[in-house]
Amino acid sequence: MKLVKLLANLGYGSRKEVQRLIRAGAVTDEGGCVLGGNDFPPHASIRFRGEPLDPPFPLLLMLNKPDGYTCSADDPGSTIYDLLPPRFALRNPLLSPVGRLDKDTTGLLILTDDGQLLHKIIHPKSGCLKTYHAVLDRPLEGHESALFASGELVLRNEAKPLLPAAMEALGEREARVTLHEGRYHQVRRMFAAAGNHVLTLRRISIGGLCLPEDLPEGEWRELTATERAAIFQL
Ligand code: URA
Repeated sequence: MKLVKLLANLGYGSRKEVQRLIRAGAVTDEGGCVLGGNDFPPHASIRFRGEPLDPPFPLLLMLNKPDGYTCSADDPGSTIYDLLPPRFALRNPLLSPVGRLDKDTTGLLILTDDGQLLHKIIHPKSGCLKTYHAVLDRPLEGHESALFASGELVLRNEAKPLLPAAMEALGEREARVTLHEGRYHQVRRMFAAAGNHVLTLRRISIGGLCLPEDLPEGEWRELTATERAAIFQL
């Protein structure tokens, strides 16, 4: 890919802006030689104002999402894109969350610009289970696990029953819930259907990928090859 298109796709500016930056000498190789807009050097050798370029397509990263951030780029309030380098919101193809989390849900969020990978992870047939830790308003009554596992629970304003989901009680008001799908507010609505209310909700894993303990809230990093493979380990 020519340098102009590459930099524009990575969010460094419009093609016009990028052309101007290139002409001004902002883009060099690792030895400091100024590059031209029609050059297509190896990605790793390109420097923008002396700094290595952002990672190329396909980008796959995980974020430990804090409370209070929406997953939608055009929300007027705080969004997950505020937690990433500003250029990441301008990439083409777009960097999208793989299965959104509610504003007040925390924990593991994967983002990618690879549409095929995104669909592979979110499709119920992929077998990538999503696991949540929920803290509840009222004590569990004992019937919830069978209700969620039944494959017959129909949420309000929906026609299709939920796929069977697993629930394990972790305490009087605490549960781990594992889903095959990701419907709107699903865990909260499941507990509402069981007569309870979710106080806090945290996603702890996607497939075999667990939220790393050393990734603080609000921080992100690229996935390693091992972590990427773990997503599909059942
Ligand atoms: N279920 C919910 O209710 N909310 C989320 O953010 C994810 C799953």
